[in-house]
Amino acid sequence: MNTAGYERLQSQVIPGYGSLARLSVALLAASPAAAGQGAEVLVAGCGTGAELLEAVAQRPDWGLTALDPSAEMLQEARQRLGDRAGIHWQQSTVEALVDEPGTAGRFAGALSVLVLQSLPDDGSKLAFLSALARCLQPGAQLVLVDLMQTSLPSLEGQLEAAWQGFQRASGLDATSQEGLHPIGLARLTSLVNAAGFGDPARVFQALGFEGFLLQRLS
Ligand SMILES: C[S@@+](CC[C@H](N)C(=O)[O-])C[C@H]1O[C@@H](n2cnc3c(N)ncnc32)[C@H](O)[C@@H]1O
Repeated sequence: MNTAGYERLQSQVIPGYGSLARLSVALLAASPAAAGQGAEVLVAGCGTGAELLEAVAQRPDWGLTALDPSAEMLQEARQRLGDRAGIHWQQSTVEALVDEPGTAGRFAGALSVLVLQSLPDDGSKLAFLSALARCLQPGAQLVLVDLMQTSLPSLEGQLEAAWQGFQRASGLDATSQEGLHPIGLARLTSLVNAAGFGDPARVFQALGFEGFLLQRLS
């Protein structure tokens, strides 16, 4: 799928997708470690480049590593960003990146937008989060945005119906959660703690899509 098709679909499924990258970058830019001039920032699962475009607009001084295991996604992102200086392109997972020499503890901040939700909770989520924590400097923050299971069981049916309605009103005929593995807040907390982060701080939410700040512990 090309960039236009991918982003149109995301906008039809995710309430607020149009400002997700802008908000995520603004949150990371305000974190103490990434606020510094020339900070090294990892964009994990950069997809077609939404967060990268925002990062170069908001923080042209950042040294960006744009990472995605999909050659197709990386190519779309590269075409959009052109030959901008200061972007290191890497076709890899975070789990493979972290074992490369000089990577552990290198980054002053990281973004993971809509990536964890696609990994099953069979050790894959923990491996991804652990690798992200190891890539970060102690005290550095990760902005994590993901589809979550609701923490409001009494409203579960209503929220699901609202999400279906949102997608229909956005022009989608059929909706599906196939390939997605959302978890609840308690499970996320346990996974991020095991990975080396403090407790997740929820900073925004639109239906099931929630944004968190996670700080790597020393
Ligand atoms: C739904 S897309 C989100 C892309 C972009 N962040 C956005 O919000 O538009 C998820 C991306 O994560 C990438 N991905 C999946 N597993 C990954 C991993 N283990 N490490 C890094 N990226 C991964 C996929 O290839 C895909 O491009």
